[in-house]
Amino acid sequence: MDDFKTRPPSGAAAIPSQVYRDAMSRFAGAVNVVTTEGPAGRRGVTVSAAVSISDDPPTVLICLNHNRAENRMFAENGCFAVNVLSGSDVELARAFAGEGRLEMEERFAHGEWHTLETGSPVLAGARASLDCVVVDVQSVHTHDIIFGRVIAVGEENDGEALVYLDRQYRSV
Ligand SMILES: Cc1cc2nc3c(=O)[nH]c(=O)nc-3n(C[C@H](O)[C@H](O)[C@H](O)COP(=O)(O)O)c2cc1C
Repeated sequence: MDDFKTRPPSGAAAIPSQVYRDAMSRFAGAVNVVTTEGPAGRRGVTVSAAVSISDDPPTVLICLNHNRAENRMFAENGCFAVNVLSGSDVELARAFAGEGRLEMEERFAHGEWHTLETGSPVLAGARASLDCVVVDVQSVHTHDIIFGRVIAVGEENDGEALVYLDRQYRSV
């Protein structure tokens, strides 16, 4: 099979990345903060790329830009947590998306955090939290796809969810 990572399918026209980005802005994405803590350090990042793969065994993936060197902490620590944000978590989402260029500890000051099994920070009041052990990492273009086995689930909270749609945060 052709190497999809390096070559477009034969005959495919390249589309400008802005055209792709505009199309992607039409997707409603759940907003999550993925976190890790371990020997490589403590980090959290706002992501929409957090997806369920299977329930047996419970497995998820997250996609992180590897041009940001600090994102390597997730693979190096070998663990991460996916925290699904509530509608009221807009400021926290902005902080972990890099708005205001806050130091990492200032970003974590936006919530109350505890741990489950892996030591990755778990947000009190998240709609759901999945505590994961890294089982595989694959690199595609600018991003690492990090696969995690879910080994613990945090307390689930009801209420509105935070989504990102048309380049805006919305509560649904
Ligand atoms: C709604 C939203 C979704 C995002 N999703 C992702 C994602 O899936 N993967 C990723 O690497 N970055 C994603 N980002 C960008 C990161 O949040 C941002 O680059 C990073 O947190 C900046 O951190 P830094 O200041 O430490 O570089 C997203 C940003 C926003 C606002």
